[in-house]
Amino acid sequence: MTGPELPDGLTLVERDAVESTNDEARALAREGAEEGTLVWAREQRAGRGRLGRTWSSPRGNLYLSLVMDSSLEAAAQTTFVAALALSDALDGLVPNDHTVILKWPNDVLLDGRKLAGMLAEWVPEAEKLVLGVGVNVAAAPADAQHPATTLRDAGVEIGAADLLARFAGEFEPWWRTWKRAGFAPIRAAWMQRCHPMGERLQVNLPDETVVGTYQGLGEDGALVMETWDGDKRRLTVGDVALIG
Ligand code: BTN
Repeated sequence: MTGPELPDGLTLVERDAVESTNDEARALAREGAEEGTLVWAREQRAGRGRLGRTWSSPRGNLYLSLVMDSSLEAAAQTTFVAALALSDALDGLVPNDHTVILKWPNDVLLDGRKLAGMLAEWVPEAEKLVLGVGVNVAAAPADAQHPATTLRDAGVEIGAADLLARFAGEFEPWWRTWKRAGFAPIRAAWMQRCHPMGERLQVNLPDETVVGTYQGLGEDGALVMETWDGDKRRLTVGDVALIG
């Protein structure tokens, strides 16, 4: 297999089928892999999503995981960096009559349906972060609770390798910006690409459901909401649905 060209600073580790690219990257990190190691697989047999969910991973979609230097505290910020890079990679690819927006914490939505997700995992033994990105290029799971879509549904025909090259090309400058200037520019750009302020949201937390309006992204990456009774809430976990 000949992999795509990646920008300086990213080193490709190409695999065919793996359990999870995050697991591969975690193992490499433990063995001393450098920041910028990028594991790409054609298929995952046990892809993982947030909140203990599985991530459907048939051949044809994009699955990658990056080894990064980060503190544990800043780990969640990297998912916003990846979401920005992916939205740039989709710019000019997705036709204008389709809409790409970002949704907290790490979703990229195409026409209101989930196209991609990010999973950041801390590797304590290596003191490194693994950032996993999955994009539904050609196949999406049928899940009534979390409706998903694909690039193909929007008429985009692209292979996983070409999408990886586009993503990596956009990721590298956002990553440099984050390292140089911190979260502030990432937060500002993310908020511009997110759904509008005031959008009605329902957030499912482990032990409660919060309904209210979107009031922005906190300086630490938390979701800021105003609930119906006027309370301001800052949420750091949860599953968000746009309720219109
Ligand atoms: C989510 O639930 O939204 C996060 C999905 C993350 C999926 C990607 S696919 C590549 C990497 N390997 C995994 O097992 N998960 C992430």
